[in-house]
Amino acid sequence: MIIAIDGPAASGKGTLSRRLASHFGFSHLDTGLLYRAVGEALRAKGLDPADEPAAVTIAETLDTSALDRDRLSGSAIGEAASIVAAIPAVRAALLDLQRRFAHSGKGAILDGRDIGTVVCPEAEVKLFVTASPEARARRRHRDDLAINPSVTYESVLADILKRDARDSGRTVAPLVPAPDARLLDTTDLDIEEAFQAAVRLVEAAG
Ligand code: C5P
Repeated sequence: MIIAIDGPAASGKGTLSRRLASHFGFSHLDTGLLYRAVGEALRAKGLDPADEPAAVTIAETLDTSALDRDRLSGSAIGEAASIVAAIPAVRAALLDLQRRFAHSGKGAILDGRDIGTVVCPEAEVKLFVTASPEARARRRHRDDLAINPSVTYESVLADILKRDARDSGRTVAPLVPAPDARLLDTTDLDIEEAFQAAVRLVEAAG
């Protein structure tokens, strides 16, 4: 069984995916980390994230055993990730490994932006996890404060709105719900409520 979970930045889809994976005993791939790793590698080399040939080379030779969420978190890397993610050849270079992961075991959960639409249109369950930009900014701000005590809510909200516009507006694999995705709006739900709602949707579909 394949579960595809898509949604915008800070919608809660990552936490939800990890909890669902442990609940159902499925493997989990956070596909945002792939784009983050490419963006981070460019930054580490002092290159522009929009440097297409360099981004494609890095994507083609990406070492997926070194995808560390702590190392790759942060809004600067997220921003670089969303720039490289708009390059069609980068997306093409990362497609095969995502599909292989999806079909590698008895069950897989992949979360990202285009899992239900492009990577795994055949997924048995598709969830599109959303929340209002303000709710997402509040959550992201709370997390970011632990790392950077001077970060403001306004700057986090501006960052989220910018990332939404880029992810939804790009021509290749834009962020849109698959026609057969179930919508899960977590604006007024805490993590536990969102998890319970997602379990019900998965059980109803599977
Ligand atoms: O989900 P996360 O914030 O880690 O993703 C970082 C960026 O990677 C997103 O803003 C998006 O541009 C890109 N991404 C994507 N397709 C995916 C996963 C992430 O384009 N499947």
